[in-house]
Amino acid sequence: MIIARSATELRAAINGPVSFVPTMGALHAGHASLIRLAAADGSCVVVSDFVNPSQFGEGEDFESYPRDLDGDAAIAEQAGAQILYAPSMAEIYPPDFATTIDPGPLAHELCGALRPGHFAGVATVVVRLFGLVGPRRAIFGRKDYQQLAILQLVAKDLALGIEIVGAPTIRDADGLALSSRNAYLSAAERVQAAALPVALQRAAAAYANGERDAAILAAIGRNALDGVELEYLELRSAELAPYDPEHLAVLLVAGHLGATRLIDNIVLDPTAPEHAVAQLSTKEYA
Ligand code: PAJ
Repeated sequence: MIIARSATELRAAINGPVSFVPTMGALHAGHASLIRLAAADGSCVVVSDFVNPSQFGEGEDFESYPRDLDGDAAIAEQAGAQILYAPSMAEIYPPDFATTIDPGPLAHELCGALRPGHFAGVATVVVRLFGLVGPRRAIFGRKDYQQLAILQLVAKDLALGIEIVGAPTIRDADGLALSSRNAYLSAAERVQAAALPVALQRAAAAYANGERDAAILAAIGRNALDGVELEYLELRSAELAPYDPEHLAVLLVAGHLGATRLIDNIVLDPTAPEHAVAQLSTKEYA
């Protein structure tokens, strides 16, 4: 695997159609699964490793976000990446950089309502990385469900000609979705954090038993979230429009454990309602 520190080095290393996995580093088994998926069709896999300041709000964890290029290189290579692109701040945001991509109303809902400017920062850096990397397709985790939905919209609206692929959420043994931010949790908080998947699991079980009322499903989830400072627990359509009991839906949760912000979600399918329960109970182990 080649570590490219600049777009020039990156371009010299690319040898064929690119499948691209953008990341902020601190790689874990969730990222590795995206890289393996990218590599599965034999394309040239580029992983970017860049902690993007424009998606962090004031008082958020940009400074303290975990950084470990050597560890990232080992995980990326093992998972099948050909190139790890670790650009400098000046390459991504040169001094005269002035453009911001506004992904529209969806960027101001759910996580966007609580993190103003977050999704504009994500969309802007991802489109810039797309320009530098030139991928045929890009892989994103469904763990960040709203991010994936917004990037699908941006790719379509701007006719980028890049296929945006969603990948399953990789979880720890107790169901907690892997996240670089889990490293911030104290031992006690780490135990409590399993409340998030448990809440989704309980609501999914009620859904599988035929419950379709959004308020009841949300209440079932909320009751399992003791100790979590809840930001939102919301049922939406799979496209993040208002919930429709007859169509594919998603239950999304966000909350804080101490200083750590965690998110998770589960897709609920009225034509296979037991699928969500099975998905969380069989787990995709790390
Ligand atoms: P980051 O949080 O590093 O995540 C990089 C990719 O890994 C995202 O697509 C995310 O959804 C996916 N991912 C994270 N945890 C996962 C898990 N447990 N299972 C499967 N996939 C998982 O998301 C970002 O970085 C940034 O916003 C970025 C898109 C790179 C733009 O800066």
